[in-house]
Amino acid sequence: MITSSILFTPFQMKGLSLKNRITMTPFFTGYSNKDGTVSPLTLEHYKKMAASGVAMVVVENAAIDLPGSDSPFQLRVDHDQYIPGLTRLAESIHNEGTYAFLQINHAGRYAYGPDRLAPSSVKTGNVFPREMTVQEIERTVVAYAEGTKRVKEAGFDGVEIHGATGYLIVQFLSSRTNHRRDAYGGSFENQMHFPLQVVDTVLATVGQDYPVGYRFLADEELPDGLHPEQTALLARELQKRRIAYLSVVGGTYDSFSLPENIEKQKQEGFMVHYADLIKKAVPETPIITAGRIQTTETAKRILEQGMADSIGLGRVLFADPLWPKKAMGIVADPIVKCEPLCSFCMQRIMKGKPALCSQWDKMDRKAFLSMIGETEE
Ligand SMILES: Cc1cc2nc3c(=O)[nH]c(=O)nc-3n(C[C@H](O)[C@H](O)[C@H](O)COP(=O)(O)O)c2cc1C
Repeated sequence: MITSSILFTPFQMKGLSLKNRITMTPFFTGYSNKDGTVSPLTLEHYKKMAASGVAMVVVENAAIDLPGSDSPFQLRVDHDQYIPGLTRLAESIHNEGTYAFLQINHAGRYAYGPDRLAPSSVKTGNVFPREMTVQEIERTVVAYAEGTKRVKEAGFDGVEIHGATGYLIVQFLSSRTNHRRDAYGGSFENQMHFPLQVVDTVLATVGQDYPVGYRFLADEELPDGLHPEQTALLARELQKRRIAYLSVVGGTYDSFSLPENIEKQKQEGFMVHYADLIKKAVPETPIITAGRIQTTETAKRILEQGMADSIGLGRVLFADPLWPKKAMGIVADPIVKCEPLCSFCMQRIMKGKPALCSQWDKMDRKAFLSMIGETEE
């Protein structure tokens, strides 16, 4: 039976008519070529994700420049040479009747290269990143804008600025990592300067009507970290700029592994309260929420209660690319759930291996491994 659930109601977002309330959130796979170009595996993966029936696919984070890259197997947008591959990627998503966005990022102190840049030299692992000069900050702002220009040229319907997970934008926003005393630090207003400069420059470069979304960190989940009273101020600034949407999350690399957070992350809808908070702060801005939203009942409840406008699926869609069709009733089988105790996808990408899901059928896992030239998981 095909359902008439709220999940499948259409929705307008900055000139785009989304066919339902399901979004694929960015999910780094490590499938790209080592030079940052789109590989056949990347194309095949996103074709499958787009065919799932989601309204919009946000492709995993791509580096705006080499110093900002966090993996050798990351997509890149810092040169025109990447445009042909990105064009094929946008086309493969569009061919399935799905909108295509691409997330862009600078990893800052979490970059993998030897010369790591950050707002301040705060120890990260065993490394002290180098404090950025004002000139380097300005050059980086331009790199976000130039990257977006290429994303637009490649035919993507919009771009998503990565302002979460503890990457460069968060490093500017948080007093834990921003100890500057110039125009980029000292007060929260100054700490917001970098992300707002990025958004303003991006919009000035690609046009105010081009959909620019933002992965939004609501709470760093650390006693001395960014908290919702601050981030609500940022949300209001972004709403003033007509941001296309905020895709709201909580936690960073510094808080993900705290025992209480590991426990919390096992629960269904574990970040929806952040979406609700930010939705209340910026009611005119579309809000996407994600975080182990496994069942259609939870997804519907979130939408019905007005906590978010779209349901984001990351690992959940990776585990079961038929999730939207099953939710709609087109496919009768039960949803294959992302196993709460499993972190196999993350473990693999941390080891520099292409992402793989433990919930995939055994034959599919075997076929995938043989395709990438591996014999064992
Ligand atoms: C392996 C992995 C890669 C991810 N890559 C990204 C990414 O590139 N950009 C991003 O904003 N979030 C990323 N995320 C976070 C997801 O988009 C999502 O917000 C989170 O996993 C919660 O939703 P889920 O439980 O449906 O996965 C990643 C998560 C995982 C587990």
